[in-house]
Amino acid sequence: MARDYVADNLETPNLDRLFPNMAEFDRSVSTWPWLRRDIDHPYRADRRNPIVGFINRDEASILYASARLFQGCAGLEIGAWRGWSTAHLIASGLRSLDVVEPLLADPAWRAEFEAVVRDAGGAERTTLVPETSPEAVVRLGEAGQRWSFVFIDGDHDGEGPTRDALACLPYFEPTGMVLFHDLVSPHVAKGLRAFEQAGWRVMAYQTAQMVGVA
Ligand SMILES: C[S@@+](CC[C@H](N)C(=O)[O-])C[C@H]1O[C@@H](n2cnc3c(N)ncnc32)[C@H](O)[C@@H]1O
Repeated sequence: MARDYVADNLETPNLDRLFPNMAEFDRSVSTWPWLRRDIDHPYRADRRNPIVGFINRDEASILYASARLFQGCAGLEIGAWRGWSTAHLIASGLRSLDVVEPLLADPAWRAEFEAVVRDAGGAERTTLVPETSPEAVVRLGEAGQRWSFVFIDGDHDGEGPTRDALACLPYFEPTGMVLFHDLVSPHVAKGLRAFEQAGWRVMAYQTAQMVGVA
């Protein structure tokens, strides 16, 4: 039976209560070519769209621990889906969080997402941006926004992750960190390489879908 794995000395905040529609599914529901079906960690998704997976518990613990290093700093999330990763970023204690997610343009989606943000304690610190990256990221950056911590889990296809990487790069504070989910996809790996080529130190976490960090 699949069991959650969380590394020694890491933890996850208990946020399951905010996601009553989160359930465990067999990975065969997804046809995405880069989903690693041979890893025996639970795959969770929203019952209404099981083919879009949430980051797993191991990945959530890495996201949470990493963002906690930037408590009191500004964060950016690209691709938030129903707010599972967002709730972890809020719980980490970032001073502010900009969430770029085009689905937030749908009023019902946004209302449900706002409830998650509120119940996670982020109502005053979170800005929902119902637009796509990279355009929204550049718009915010050109308006003067700067970020210390960025989580990228948005457009996974083709040049999408590289475009996201290149969009945020100019708007980082001098000390910053970026995490990519789904590094197993070569398209996402190329996004991480963009940071490496810009002189950042990069590393990969061996999780179910792998997490890249720069
Ligand atoms: C895999 S889901 C993110 C899952 C989320 N990180 C979690 O663990 O709960 C990918 C999300 O990226 C969004 N997305 C796709 N293209 C995007 C773009 N160009 N800019 C921002 N978000 C995008 C999709 O709408 C979707 O919600």
